[in-house]
Amino acid sequence: MTETALTVHQVARPHGFPTAEHFAFVESPRPEPEVGSALVENLYWSVDPYHRELMDGGFVLGEALEGRTIGRVVASRTPELAEGEIVFHRQGWRTHAVVTPEDVRRLPRFDGVPLTAFLSVLGGTGLTAYVGLTRIARLQEGEDLFVSGAAGGVGTATARFARLLGAGRLVGSAGSAEKVAHLVRDVGFDAAFDYHEGPASDLLGKAAPDGIDVFVDNVGGEQLAAAVGALREFGRIVRVGTISQYNTPGATQPRFNHADIVEKSIRMEGFLVRNYRDVQDELQEFAVPHLQSGALVLDETVVDGFENIVDAFLGMLRGRNTGKIIVRAARP
Ligand SMILES: NC(=O)c1ccc[n+]([C@@H]2O[C@H](COP(=O)([O-])OP(=O)(O)OC[C@H]3O[C@@H](n4cnc5c(N)ncnc54)[C@H](OP(=O)(O)O)[C@@H]3O)[C@@H](O)[C@H]2O)c1
Repeated sequence: MTETALTVHQVARPHGFPTAEHFAFVESPRPEPEVGSALVENLYWSVDPYHRELMDGGFVLGEALEGRTIGRVVASRTPELAEGEIVFHRQGWRTHAVVTPEDVRRLPRFDGVPLTAFLSVLGGTGLTAYVGLTRIARLQEGEDLFVSGAAGGVGTATARFARLLGAGRLVGSAGSAEKVAHLVRDVGFDAAFDYHEGPASDLLGKAAPDGIDVFVDNVGGEQLAAAVGALREFGRIVRVGTISQYNTPGATQPRFNHADIVEKSIRMEGFLVRNYRDVQDELQEFAVPHLQSGALVLDETVVDGFENIVDAFLGMLRGRNTGKIIVRAARP
């Protein structure tokens, strides 16, 4: 076990895109668990777009940053947490965490399912995709979808779940030609486009000439406006996220035809995954057999080394990931 611990702090507020200068790695002696707690050495970290939102005020400057994390209990002063146990917690961007039994969730192990899945399709990312399709869109078999941010964690999980739930045509958008090719070749999209290549309404019109029933929106902005035009009668817009705006505060909001919402009986609904924790077991029951049979494939970008956690986060904001971005300790 290492004698020192590393913790990442946010040290300044960004205007626009954050950089490495907004963070500091702080070294300290390895923490010791008090009676009733245990020391966890972290193995995997999730870095997420919502961390960018927290950088504007939610993260306290000079303190450790929260986040979804998986680690191993390496010292315990509570009978409820045994050394060697693998746990999920939310203490985030640090190599070591002192936790109480109430702070953690013991992770079930399923044959053939790697631990990273608990940060991707079986974690908050997968739960977001699953809730978006089953609770918000209430997807029906044969319905056609458009997914923005399609090559990311939520986007790929949405497409793979939609396919398993019997969706019709899948159209996606992403930020590069390589990602577009990957979506069609590997992820199961029927068509995809690079949103940089022209007005979103033209690109979506070409990729989905007969329209769509459901839009799962990770991005907002121009693509949302385009989707309103492309939706059929009784269409649904699932507002998942607005990453096109996180680094450009004050950007103009694109207009759409408000009458479309009435005349096509469109329903637009946003949600936060934290309000749907009760769906977690259902997600597991749905996804684990598909993972085990190979019908569901993990889409993950794994970055090695805690020292690269800031770069991994900044790279994700710039679109360097495909699938869920996960940071892995150098010595898993
Ligand atoms: N509602 C909830 O509870 C909930 C839960 C989880 C996530 N979310 C939201 O879901 C979205 C996806 O999250 P994720 O964790 O799966 O992240 P992700 O999609 O894996 O990573 C972010 C992606 O956003 C894309 N991007 C960056 N700037 C963009 C821009 N200006 N326009 C369009 N795309 C841009 C990049 O891909 P490209 O190369 O394609 O640009 C990047 O890979 C985010 O908006 C996030 O806030 C919401």
